[in-house]
Amino acid sequence: MPPIRPHGTGIIDLPNQWRVAAIDQVAPMRLPTGALMCTPDHFDIIDVKNPHMAGNLGAIDRSRARRQWESLGSAFGHACLRVDVIPSILGCEDMVFCANPVFTGLDVDGHRVCVPARMRHDSRQRETPALVAWFQNAGYSVHTVATSLFEGGGDAVWHPGRRLIWGGYGHRTDPAVYEELGPIFQAPVIRLKLMSEHFYHLDTCLCAVDENTALINPASFDESGLGLIRSVFKRVIECPADEAIGALACNAVATASGAVILPAGAPRTAGLLTKAGYSVIEVDTSEFQKSGGSCYCMKMWLW
Ligand code: ARG
Repeated sequence: MPPIRPHGTGIIDLPNQWRVAAIDQVAPMRLPTGALMCTPDHFDIIDVKNPHMAGNLGAIDRSRARRQWESLGSAFGHACLRVDVIPSILGCEDMVFCANPVFTGLDVDGHRVCVPARMRHDSRQRETPALVAWFQNAGYSVHTVATSLFEGGGDAVWHPGRRLIWGGYGHRTDPAVYEELGPIFQAPVIRLKLMSEHFYHLDTCLCAVDENTALINPASFDESGLGLIRSVFKRVIECPADEAIGALACNAVATASGAVILPAGAPRTAGLLTKAGYSVIEVDTSEFQKSGGSCYCMKMWLW
């Protein structure tokens, strides 16, 4: 494996393939400026796509969900993110989790790009054309991938401030997609195999808090994945296992302002983040956690 150059692409799966001495040798990329949210009007649980959904069929309190969704939007605003909203579609019960139907970012020329996902479950596939149309209308160019399983920003996570993608796979995403995604963005991709059913998207077990810091659930990764995370992030905050699973505490949103929007119900994680210098904004997302999603899943980055 040749060294990863600042503008290099390439797939990195093993710690000893990472030859960059420091993350600051990777090309910089500015941070996102906003968050697109999807209204929860048609949010429901009609099947079991992940273990969090088991036993929760039909158990959504819609008005409570609406209030929680609005609090999350206000928290994004407080954390200096511009919020845009796309209406949900009748029959798209999971569309509120708009981290999945596409992946967005900037190409090397700074142009905004949207890559449509190829969702695993039939009932979620209708979300993608709606999101793609929204982004096209907003001026993003669309680059498609041929690999058949890819769940967008749920599995592909930008390294904050750098042209580097962390690529989760194993449940909803085929690792081959990253061979297509890297060249679109001229970004190296560090692939991480997801080891547990409860942490089926990368954003459920890794939060890239800032350029040097990650919040992770260690048990979600194999040794090689953990080695990669520890070799790139200078500081790795380990989320207590019960809060990672019970409160989806790693599904947090960190912003340039130093705020971390954290699912409520994770007091020890909140304490660790506060001690590390972040200002934690806790948001109750209990209705959405019944479906296996929380703060990070309920937005798509805007650039
Ligand atoms: N019920 C949804 C599903 O299983 C939840 C998606 C959560 N999204 C995420 N990015 N983790 O597809």
